[in-house]
Amino acid sequence: MTPQSGILPPANGHALFTLFRRRLGRRADARLKALLASVSDRIIHLQGEDPQASGVIAFGPHVWPELYSSKPALLRDFPSISGAIHPAPASEVDVLLHLRGERYDLLHEFADQLSAEMSEWLDVIETVHGFRYRDARDLTGFVDGTENPVGEERAEVALLADGDWAGGSYIHLQRYVHRMEQWKKLPVRQQEAVIGRTKDTNEELPDEDRPHTAHISRVIIEEDGEELAMLRHSMPYGSPGGDKGLYFISYCKTPVVFEKMLTRMVAPTSDGRVDHMLNFTRAVTGAAFFAPSIEQLKQLQK
Ligand code: HEM
Repeated sequence: MTPQSGILPPANGHALFTLFRRRLGRRADARLKALLASVSDRIIHLQGEDPQASGVIAFGPHVWPELYSSKPALLRDFPSISGAIHPAPASEVDVLLHLRGERYDLLHEFADQLSAEMSEWLDVIETVHGFRYRDARDLTGFVDGTENPVGEERAEVALLADGDWAGGSYIHLQRYVHRMEQWKKLPVRQQEAVIGRTKDTNEELPDEDRPHTAHISRVIIEEDGEELAMLRHSMPYGSPGGDKGLYFISYCKTPVVFEKMLTRMVAPTSDGRVDHMLNFTRAVTGAAFFAPSIEQLKQLQK
């Protein structure tokens, strides 16, 4: 089974995230299904102009039953975390279009055209341009994506290996708005303690110097001698003078990894601690999806 093109490649200079919600009373019919199924071929066409272009279309748990007669076993709502002391809101979203590439103009054109064609059924909830900031840094100034899996590990981590939904991937996304004013006031040494890595040289702080409340201390979770892993394609976004932050997105063969990491970030239930990074940023949207393989996507037009 072939994964959709936007899952495995390394980071690009641009991304475009478009979230759609079903219009009231509009069910997915054959015409909408044919449009959704066309996305992978349209991306191949896009690659004629930008060889680095890739993309993913993915569906949430509520719209899923209108598209397919069976469901990936673990496709479920964005988690609602009991005991959370930081916000992790879930948004009502049905479809995600995640485009990546080096030519933002082409991504814009693609998403604009597809949104117009699908507007009879789907409303656009938000559309956000993610961009590479300096040497792949988050707007906090820290390099993001360093510990992503590499080589063959990317597919092992991100894709279901077998069963009906092989080649597919569970996706979680959250839009974070950074409190840049507060963050900039924090001395670099303290910023490093919040993230758990050095800023300039991007090295992990040694265990003895890394607080349990550092971001990476919250998301490094060892089970049976192995670290839980996900593939992240998060990108900075925002407007000068306006909201800005990180558009977080993860791909994984199971939703459980994101759920466990987020729980350790927002709820002091495991060891009495939460992620101190969340004093400087807050999630304003959240959604969960499954991206079917290209073969399963094309089934939609049969
Ligand atoms: C690592 C930033 C949200 C999971 C990192 C790193 C940075 C970072 C700077 C270190 C470099 C790297 O390995 O990529 C952020 C920011 C976030 C955010 C600014 C939101 C505002 C999340 C969320 C999750 C997550 C919501 C999962 C639920 C991870 C993982 C690592 C990581 C798994 C790698 C840890 C390791 O193995 O060392 N993040 N992150 N992050 N983050 Fe985040």
